[in-house]
Amino acid sequence: MIKVVSTVCETRAQVKEWKNQGLTVGLVPTMGYLHEGHQSLIKKAVEENDRVVVSVFVNPIQFAPNEDLETYPRDLEADKRLCDSTGADLIFHPTPDEMYPDGFSTHIQMDNLTKELCGKTRPTHFGGVCTVVGKLFNIVQPDKAYFGQKDAQQLAIIKRMVRDLNFDIEIVGCPIIREPDGLAKSSRNTYLNADERKAALILSKAIKLGEELVADGERNAQTVIKAMTDKINTEPLARIDYVNVVDALSIEPLDVVKGEVLVAIAVYIGKTRLIDNFITAI
Ligand code: PAF
Repeated sequence: MIKVVSTVCETRAQVKEWKNQGLTVGLVPTMGYLHEGHQSLIKKAVEENDRVVVSVFVNPIQFAPNEDLETYPRDLEADKRLCDSTGADLIFHPTPDEMYPDGFSTHIQMDNLTKELCGKTRPTHFGGVCTVVGKLFNIVQPDKAYFGQKDAQQLAIIKRMVRDLNFDIEIVGCPIIREPDGLAKSSRNTYLNADERKAALILSKAIKLGEELVADGERNAQTVIKAMTDKINTEPLARIDYVNVVDALSIEPLDVVKGEVLVAIAVYIGKTRLIDNFITAI
């Protein structure tokens, strides 16, 4: 069975041993409750590195007080099985105290990229993500780290943080993994009841519509946004947080669909907030 460690010290010792043998190390940061989306990241990491560390840590500082920190799904035994069968070598599963000991007072704060999209409704979220990912990078010191394109804004932010703070790590983005009916895989899908699960398909339907419009030559961002908004509003259980068209690297809103473009949506289905997106290069 895969080795699980809970301290920074043990993780560093293991990675040091590997590096002394000249082995490369990949890191897959996760909050656990792993699904096929995470598994695709782990697979890619296993293909591209000699050793792979998966961190499993529900990071309290990226949740606002009104969010789902307490109820966020957790299942370390299932996570161990998935990591083991996918070929990962080590799980780093720290406690909140290990990551944020008494007196913890240093945070990574990004000025740009964090204000639009999810940053509007979750203003403290990305500070928490950058801080924990920065810590994980320093603890594991991987050669490469793997993040899903489903969290496209997070991926853009991590790439910017790595550039700005000179982390010597290659960031690898991996495609969105979907259920057979189109719903993007997410640990939060487990919150959906049967009716909500059906209603949640409106996200991938709206994404498909947006992709088709752009593929057919639509370049007016507002037209794409309006069509996708109208589509989502046909679903009575859906409540839009945002539908937006932004530059994929800077996350600045765009009027014209041109360059590397991220079309991103966040929609509440009942109480569950789901996200989806597509990226297109024109
Ligand atoms: O994407 C996630 O699961 C989290 O935001 C991350 C990157 C593991 C940081 O807690």
